[in-house]
Amino acid sequence: MIFKVISVFVLLLAVIVALMLGGVFDTAPEPPEYGDGWWGKGEKPNTPPDESIVPFEIQFEQSVFNDLKSRIRNTRFGVGLEDRRFNYGVRPEYMRNVAKYWLSSYNWTKQQEEINTFDHFKTNIEGLDIHFMHVKPTLKAGQKAVPLLMIHGWPGSFYEYLKIAPLLTKVNDQSDVVFELICPSIPGYTFSEASHKKGLDALAVARIFDKLMKRLGFRQYYIQGGDWGAYIITKIALITPSSILGLHSNMATTRLPLQPLFLMIGSYFPSLIFSSKEDQDKVFPAGEKMAHIMLETGYMHIQATKPDTVGSALNNSPIGLAAYILEKFSTWTDPKGRDMDDGGIDKYWTLDELLTNIMLYWMTGSITPSMRFYKENIANALQEPFYKINVPSAVADFPMELSHTPEPWVRKQYVDLMQYTTMPRGGHFAAFEEPQLLADDIRKFVTAVELRKVKTP
Ligand SMILES: *[C@@H]1O[C@H](CO)[C@@H](O)[C@H](O)[C@H]1NC(C)=O
Repeated sequence: MIFKVISVFVLLLAVIVALMLGGVFDTAPEPPEYGDGWWGKGEKPNTPPDESIVPFEIQFEQSVFNDLKSRIRNTRFGVGLEDRRFNYGVRPEYMRNVAKYWLSSYNWTKQQEEINTFDHFKTNIEGLDIHFMHVKPTLKAGQKAVPLLMIHGWPGSFYEYLKIAPLLTKVNDQSDVVFELICPSIPGYTFSEASHKKGLDALAVARIFDKLMKRLGFRQYYIQGGDWGAYIITKIALITPSSILGLHSNMATTRLPLQPLFLMIGSYFPSLIFSSKEDQDKVFPAGEKMAHIMLETGYMHIQATKPDTVGSALNNSPIGLAAYILEKFSTWTDPKGRDMDDGGIDKYWTLDELLTNIMLYWMTGSITPSMRFYKENIANALQEPFYKINVPSAVADFPMELSHTPEPWVRKQYVDLMQYTTMPRGGHFAAFEEPQLLADDIRKFVTAVELRKVKTP
């Protein structure tokens, strides 16, 4: 009897907490304002801003490489536990191999040449030099390119898009849609200048990237992103919906009113929440899914609170930085990597590719500002009201992604959801790992939007 009373009480309490967390007592929120900002050094100057767009080529001084090599050579490697694989994080023994490869076989010049085959530019927005890669298609006579803004996340970079760019910008048999790609770097990541002021959050970056697109002459455009990119594109859709032709996300999360309550009820009665077994399995058992997220997001807590402290270490040790980033590429691509000696990393990428992304962080000293983006966003994100996204939308759900949002929930937040794809394979770094799958999904969506525009102008 006493247990029954306690469980009813606990359940009631849980319902109340869930209602509050779900924001059910909030009124429908106004979308955030477009706003304005200044993130450069010192005071905003009174002179008219320089809005020129300047070609940029990636190039570093030889002294930077000499310094890098001596740091790798001087690494103090620890001793890993016997037979613990990647379960305690990246194994020191594995990092010895990485160091050896980095020093003897990795060729930055070759990687840099490849990156520089694409056009890069910089332009100053809100006081920061913003870098972007611009990939123009070759068009058939009479064909028009569709502008697409693709935004990377952490610990990735614009480099994730080198493989998907040719797929999206070349003429395709299935569809007339060909893209003109703009892949900017988030401020503080690789070649985009880091903010000198606190508070540069996703909303500010959304505005900066919208200004970039307008400066390039695109009044309306498509947006795509995963990780932070996925969060930033929702902000763009909120602050300037009339500029957005369509939104494609490969990491849609929702914050529905009552979502925690639904999760709780669904833990006992999943079929009350989702009719399809496939949807149920994306979210339940909620405890198990939550445990997985808790075990994999320690980094997030650190970066959302004291990014500069851990940054002091990572900005001084290339092997430390590589371990920190490689671990994410292992577990977020396949959690089974934790039980492997090499994290299973080589299955999806060459070490050259992974080291190039790491080099981009190292050479530009980006790790600390890149982590600060968590501090600027997480607290706000947790208190954010429930906004509806009204632009035409599509979601690609990759099976190895950290968390999943089933279609019925996505549809509640992205109210004009035109496409939801459960992908056959692939993880968090979708464009980098499965460029063809992602490219096909984006093109299918944009083709449908363009067709709808013709039908209902
Ligand atoms: C590195 O790559 C560059 C450019 O492809 C090439 O010229 C050079 O010979 C390579 N260096 C080595 C040591 O292989």
